[in-house]
Amino acid sequence: MSAHATAQPMTASKSGPLKGTASVPGDKSISHRALIFGAMAVGETKITGLLEGQDVLDTAKAMRAFGATVVQHGPGAWSVNGVGVGGFQEPADVIDCGNSGTGVRLIMGTMATTPMTATFTGDASLRKRPMGRVTDPLSLFGTQAYGRKGGRLPMTVVGAANPVPVRYALPVASAQVKSAVLLAGLNAPGQTVVIEREPTRDHSERMLLGFGAQLTVEKTSEGNVITLTGQPELRPQTVAVPRDPSSAAFPVCAALVVEGSDIFVPGVSQNLTRNGLYLTLVEMGADIEFQNPRTEGGEPVADLRVRFSDNMKGIEVPPERAPSMIDEYPILSVVAACSTGKTVMRGVKELRVKESDRIDAMARGLEACGVKIEEDEDTLIVHGMGAGGVPGGATCATHIDHRIAMSFLVLGMAAKAPVSVDDASPIVTSFPIFEGLMTGLGATLRAGGQ
Ligand code: S3P
Repeated sequence: MSAHATAQPMTASKSGPLKGTASVPGDKSISHRALIFGAMAVGETKITGLLEGQDVLDTAKAMRAFGATVVQHGPGAWSVNGVGVGGFQEPADVIDCGNSGTGVRLIMGTMATTPMTATFTGDASLRKRPMGRVTDPLSLFGTQAYGRKGGRLPMTVVGAANPVPVRYALPVASAQVKSAVLLAGLNAPGQTVVIEREPTRDHSERMLLGFGAQLTVEKTSEGNVITLTGQPELRPQTVAVPRDPSSAAFPVCAALVVEGSDIFVPGVSQNLTRNGLYLTLVEMGADIEFQNPRTEGGEPVADLRVRFSDNMKGIEVPPERAPSMIDEYPILSVVAACSTGKTVMRGVKELRVKESDRIDAMARGLEACGVKIEEDEDTLIVHGMGAGGVPGGATCATHIDHRIAMSFLVLGMAAKAPVSVDDASPIVTSFPIFEGLMTGLGATLRAGGQ
């Protein structure tokens, strides 16, 4: 099922207080990787807690098309019988990755060093996004790619028959690009090296080690130097996918801005490459308690108790924090609107090439809701109106972007007048239980516009 065959407007009204437990689904980044790495291992990988969002289901389908056996046994419980590194079969049809940049970029990397041809496409959002950032480094292995103008999908990738290992310094802070190069390096002889100046999410490195790859990460003055030894035999794993901190961000931020709220959010990642939003919220004065720190599914996690915080103040978000909260700027800008003072988000131009141009989408929607913003290519500044101070009363365009949809619905829960989104259907890509989970806490959401 497509995420957005027909637009589904949705409206959020002043809500609350939000109370109860918000158990969010599995991590999207780790879910994609569990399926892909499982497909590269020899034998059966067992997965629990897999996110059954459309993005991940599209990756499962793609792994089947490349020859892996992927089976769902129950909610979140899946197995993957892998074909081994270099064992992919040529897919018989076009690979449709739907809305998922992570899916398409990681899969391109995975097939790039096996001699076969595959054609990739996606929905109207994914077809606008740049693939050159992945196909440029893949070409160093000997891979060829033929896409539309600007390196856009649909794109045909011809895997290298005799790949050579690569040394590549990332020109953008992108875990997708890093992971695509590492995945391509799996089937190249010798050592593939990726250098990242700013650390990005490290799930590929952690999971590759878990699957038995030889990989080292050295911290140097150039940044992290990641060295992978090619052509390993990956061992199947049991993967317990932890909950997604990027999904947890929505109930957490909703509780912070909806008067009287007090919620419990179990198992939120404290991985330093993912927790930038939580550091920022605490600096803004959010009332969040981090309880019971522990390790789950190989990731450091804590349970969060989050209470309405009517005294949050805008801050300058340190630009070097951006990679650790890159998906959280839309919801942060909603919290910023409900705080006092200015929240300054610099160094965020990567937001312009996400599922939508997120700087533009948030700026236009916030303005429509009566919030003053300033923006340039690399910056978003939100002028806060205080808790309960945002007028709302507008319909915001989501541009086939799940996080834009959920962010404006959270704004509607705290604004004076209801906020609608023109299309909530993309939410299924990452957080299929969003509506039920939020209404269960006490949010007022209804299908339809205003
Ligand atoms: C992801 C990396 C990030 C993030 C995306 C998931 C991943 O993208 O925005 O939602 O799983 O590697 P970039 O690598 O483009 O920053």
